[in-house]
Amino acid sequence: MKIILLGAPGAGKGTQARKIMELLSIPQVSTGDMLREAKAKGTALGLEAGRSMAKGELVPDAVVVGIVSERLKAPDMAKGFILDGFPRTLAQAKALHEMGVAIDLVLNIVVDADEIVERLTGRLTCGKCGAMYHRTFMVPKKEGTCDSCGGGLVQRADDNEATVRNRLEVYKQQTMPLVEYYGRFGSVKEVNGTGKTPEAVFNAVKGLLGS
Ligand code: AP5
Ligand code: MG
Ligand code: ZN
Repeated sequence: MKIILLGAPGAGKGTQARKIMELLSIPQVSTGDMLREAKAKGTALGLEAGRSMAKGELVPDAVVVGIVSERLKAPDMAKGFILDGFPRTLAQAKALHEMGVAIDLVLNIVVDADEIVERLTGRLTCGKCGAMYHRTFMVPKKEGTCDSCGGGLVQRADDNEATVRNRLEVYKQQTMPLVEYYGRFGSVKEVNGTGKTPEAVFNAVKGLLGS
């Protein structure tokens, strides 16, 4: 199954992608994670991308399309995958189509802007395995430590209120048009995530996956 997860920053794409990955045994392809990894390695591409990310702006289409098209060639993609954070512009959606990828399902997770700001400014991410926590909503058992791998928890550089507001604006301008774009192919299913626990959202997702 080939799935796209649409949704504003903080809507829970990463959280749900990890659950779907476990359920269906298909990999998650997160362009955000891949770009952060490139930045951490200090590659020229990563450092350049890091500058856009810190401002909450999108990284140029050509860069992201290049990374995704390489990743999709890997053998573990054969059974399907979950695209988390890609495509994010109409140009990226068209590039994906031109790669010959036929998407089975587009899940659009919808969450109120106020809840998003609360989620992102409180998010903690494991620096080692990428697991997500929240200072109030998903508290780790031991402060500052990942439950699953023992890694240290860090706050993402773009999770401050000013950058989050800009990310939301960029989402509205550049990514929301994709809901209509995929709607034309009849493949979009909406999931309401406002005020719901990650488990409740996942139950709705499972229903839409037919499992
Ligand atoms: P990216 O890493 O994709 O970030 P994003 O889209 O801003 O989304 P987030 O990862 O912040 O949120 P999420 O929806 O995954 O939510 P999560 O599950 O973590 O992109 C970052 C940057 O990279 C972009 O700004 C851009 O610069 C660049 N980039 C990436 N892809 C690109 C592309 N295709 N083109 C161009 N540039 C690109 O949850 C958030 C928090 O809420 C967590 O703390 C979690 O524990 C908590 N939470 C989750 N679900 C719930 C719930 N139901 N109830 C309560 N809390 C919850
Ligand atoms: Mg994410
Ligand atoms: Zn971890």
